[in-house]
Amino acid sequence: MRPLDRISSIKLKLGLLIVGAVVVTLAVNEVGLRWNVKPVTRAGVAALIALAMVQVLARGMTSPLREMAAAAGAMAKGEHGRRVTASSRDEVGELARAFNAMAAELEEVDRLRRDLVANVSHELRTPISALQAVLENVVDGVEPAAPETLSAMLKQVERLGRLVTQLLDLSRLESGSIPLQMEDFELQGVLEDAAQECRLHAPHVQLAVSVDPPGLAAHGDPERVHQVIANLLENAVRHSPSGGGVQLSARRERDQVVIAVADEGPGIAEADAGRVFERFYRADAARASSSGGAGLGLSIVRWIVDLHGGQVRPERREPHGCRMVVVLPGGAP
Ligand SMILES: Nc1ncnc2c1ncn2[C@@H]1O[C@H](COP(=O)(O)OP(=O)(O)OP(=O)(O)O)[C@@H](O)[C@H]1O
Ligand SMILES: [Mg+2]
Repeated sequence: MRPLDRISSIKLKLGLLIVGAVVVTLAVNEVGLRWNVKPVTRAGVAALIALAMVQVLARGMTSPLREMAAAAGAMAKGEHGRRVTASSRDEVGELARAFNAMAAELEEVDRLRRDLVANVSHELRTPISALQAVLENVVDGVEPAAPETLSAMLKQVERLGRLVTQLLDLSRLESGSIPLQMEDFELQGVLEDAAQECRLHAPHVQLAVSVDPPGLAAHGDPERVHQVIANLLENAVRHSPSGGGVQLSARRERDQVVIAVADEGPGIAEADAGRVFERFYRADAARASSSGGAGLGLSIVRWIVDLHGGQVRPERREPHGCRMVVVLPGGAP
């Protein structure tokens, strides 16, 4: 704690210093007059005492500014862990606290960026390594370019393509470069379309759609809402047992619509419920990576739902299963 740290205004601190210096000068003058000291000596002694007083009292008033300048220089070179001392309550202290908050935010952004680069490279490397291994075998004549080999390679290329599309979608959503085309639209058509596409590549599940009332409308961008439902359905069928049922439903709740995708899979554990929306997060990493998901689907879902001003959350089903609930603004039918 420095002498003037408790005072919350820099103006008041300066005022006190000036008053202090004036009082010291007057006192020195008074004493000097009594002892018949020469005016030059009195002025010199008063100036020295006033300067010493400023040194003691104003200690710490400007040091955070110097610290900030040094820290900003270090941060410009990529050293984001630097913080400054922010013990005073005045404007400089406030600035120092804001500076520390900004530094912490920058450090977090930098960490996220590193994680993103590491995750993206890892996700890209897996299919590329698989492709390279097969292609090398074909080129060396160890393996013939049989249709099964080619179709395995095609799967890896599709995985790569999907990953790149998802990353592009996420970055466009985050940067706001694809504005939503908001309108009132009927949910039945969008839900049926998504379900039909899903049935094509997941014949092992029983997918049922129900909209209550049938003409239920939502207010949003139909294309993006379709993307949300397609992602949730894809997760539901991926985690469903063979022959399991998946229910896609929509109903009205006051002035909102509630869309739910329920499956009979293992469900999402309580501890993972908040984290599954993070980029590249997979609750069961070993299984998920072998089945091809990168952990981006639900991050895209959350971005779209947030842009609509809605909410999305996973719920547990009894005895087992997951129900993903999406709440969106309702529209006029
Ligand atoms: N219906 C579900 N049942 C059980 N777990 C789920 C379900 N939906 C999501 N999860 C868990 O949440 C994780 C994140 O889901 P997300 O859709 O973001 O990624 P992914 O499906 O693994 O990959 P991607 O969607 O990018 O192909 C999944 O890896 C899975 O562990
Ligand atoms: Mg997914």
